[in-house]
Amino acid sequence: MNQCKNRVYCGTLRESDAGKAVTVYGWVARARDLGGLVFVDVRDRTGIVQCVFDQTDDRGLFEKAAALRSEFTVEITGSVRPRASVNDKIPTGRVEILASGLRVFARAETPPFEISDDVSVNDTLRLTYRYLDLRRPSLQRCLTLRHQIMQLTRSYFAENDFLEIETPILTKSTPEGARDYLVPSRVHPGEFYALPQSPQQYKQLLMLAGFDRYMQIARCFRDEDLRYDRQPEFTQIDLEMSFVDVDDVIAVQEGFIRRLMREVKGIDIETPIPRMTYHEAMSRFGSDKPDLRFGYELCDLTDLARGCGFSVFEAAAEAGGLVAGINIGGGAKMSRKEIDSLGEYVKTYRAKGLAWLKVAESGEHSSSFAKFVPEERLRAVMDRAGVKPGDLLLCVADGDVELAQNALGNLRCEVARRMGAIPENTWKFLWVVDFPLFEYGEDDDGNTRLYAKHHPFTAPVDEDIPLFESNPIAMRAKAYDIVLNGTEIGGGSIRIHQPEVQSAMFRALGISDEDIRSRFGHMINAFKYGAPPHGGIAYGLDRIVMHMAGTENIRDVIAFPKVQNASELMMGSPSTVDERQLRDLSIKVDIQKKQ
Ligand code: AMO
Ligand code: AMP
Repeated sequence: MNQCKNRVYCGTLRESDAGKAVTVYGWVARARDLGGLVFVDVRDRTGIVQCVFDQTDDRGLFEKAAALRSEFTVEITGSVRPRASVNDKIPTGRVEILASGLRVFARAETPPFEISDDVSVNDTLRLTYRYLDLRRPSLQRCLTLRHQIMQLTRSYFAENDFLEIETPILTKSTPEGARDYLVPSRVHPGEFYALPQSPQQYKQLLMLAGFDRYMQIARCFRDEDLRYDRQPEFTQIDLEMSFVDVDDVIAVQEGFIRRLMREVKGIDIETPIPRMTYHEAMSRFGSDKPDLRFGYELCDLTDLARGCGFSVFEAAAEAGGLVAGINIGGGAKMSRKEIDSLGEYVKTYRAKGLAWLKVAESGEHSSSFAKFVPEERLRAVMDRAGVKPGDLLLCVADGDVELAQNALGNLRCEVARRMGAIPENTWKFLWVVDFPLFEYGEDDDGNTRLYAKHHPFTAPVDEDIPLFESNPIAMRAKAYDIVLNGTEIGGGSIRIHQPEVQSAMFRALGISDEDIRSRFGHMINAFKYGAPPHGGIAYGLDRIVMHMAGTENIRDVIAFPKVQNASELMMGSPSTVDERQLRDLSIKVDIQKKQ
């Protein structure tokens, strides 16, 4: 077929188009036969427009239109005219097309659910028929926005001298912390490629190769548990720069974020974006990605807890732990039941309990622990936390400082949600800097050892380098995360470019010389031949689009997403394969076939 040269997108028509001859292509959203008139709403990716067929104009055409049903695909030709009854709920609501031609390309069965943003349909059904689900206006908007953000990203970085370079998908395991997806090799039986968790090593090698500013919109694969903001297959805006330190990388990124906010949201954000050390973020907000749209900061009460009379607090303080509280302004109106449910909530973050103190408007207080604590000490606690009549103080005590911080950090956000204390249309960006270089973790045998907090190529802060030998856990990294409204939308670091520092890093991580050679030999070798100081960052594109689109679920911004158990419901992946395919790959599957 030839597309008509008068083709317009449905959603673009306005009163100023009145009188124009146009043709629209799309799906029938709704068809109503009102006796002498048939109204057909036609939908394409830009919106919906109403078309009218008048019986008195053309009898044959009218009858064809009267037979239209939802989701038929059509071409409708006609002239634009002002609408008699205006519909201000849609942008095209002041016009309609008086039809003079209709072609039906395909009829449609009744879809398994109505194509509309207003009906609630279970997710499994939606995702099984994803191509129908994607016809919904909200999802069409999300994917259009994703496209716009990708275009803007490419042009911003190209204008700033970044080269777009692709890196392999069939590669070797990169130590990004999650499990790898593996692909068996046919040519090398028993050997496997890994899908990249990120292009980290390649982008560093590109710096060594002289491409001093690199960018890629890179697909990454991580076999980890899914969440509302995590998919096993996701996209990074991946960047690397040479001859830079932290401030240089951050300056370029702030230009990008400004552009993004200006062009997508029409908002001018202030730069420089504030920075906060990891340590400050954890102690004030109980999180390394604090949401700064609301207060409820943590208040350290550990010193007041010593000898206070309440054994739970005393024990945590004695153990070198943390006793801290959050003052919920106006929270005294919370019922016992609500407070108890917050107690259950913090337990999901392994806190052992939630102590509380409520001060009524009259000044009288009720509390789960006040009866153990002398009046004077209680006063000191309330003064420290700024508790006034009408407020509620929520406290967690634990011998493990990070555990208590994390529980309170999550509680802070949960209470803000429940209290309706999160302002809408507020954009709080924050750089979190000076992350620890290492963290403790358990290896497969249950032994505690050091792990790289970001990845093993991250450079330590210069003055901390001597601590490799004496006190590695105290070392700070030249690593930074960019946080938006409590979500980590990107993270990066300055990399190690001196071979001796890289060796010290691997040694501290307990990686044997042999392992270093087999896993990272190519990196060690490359760094022998003149390495520029370099660093970079990667943004989670999906997370950026989520925020810009105002959706809570990462699936809304991915055309064909995976569900909780990492399967894709429409095509039905993963799936079993032919015996022959397995034989070619020298693979034997030792599992009972699924029924
Ligand atoms: P990192 O592992 O922090 O850094 O990843 C960078 C950003 O990618 C996003 N992200 C995800 N988005 C959706 N689903 C996932 N499963 C997922 N995992 C991560 C996050 C995160 O901030 N190579 C380094 C970057 C660097 O050092 O330059 C890296 O991958 O928004
Ligand atoms: P109990 O002595 O177990 O009855 O606890 C008294 C109060 O202290 C209850 O409100 C508990 O929820 C609270 N509580 C118990 N353990 C902790 C803890 N580790 N941190 C804060 N509050 C706690």
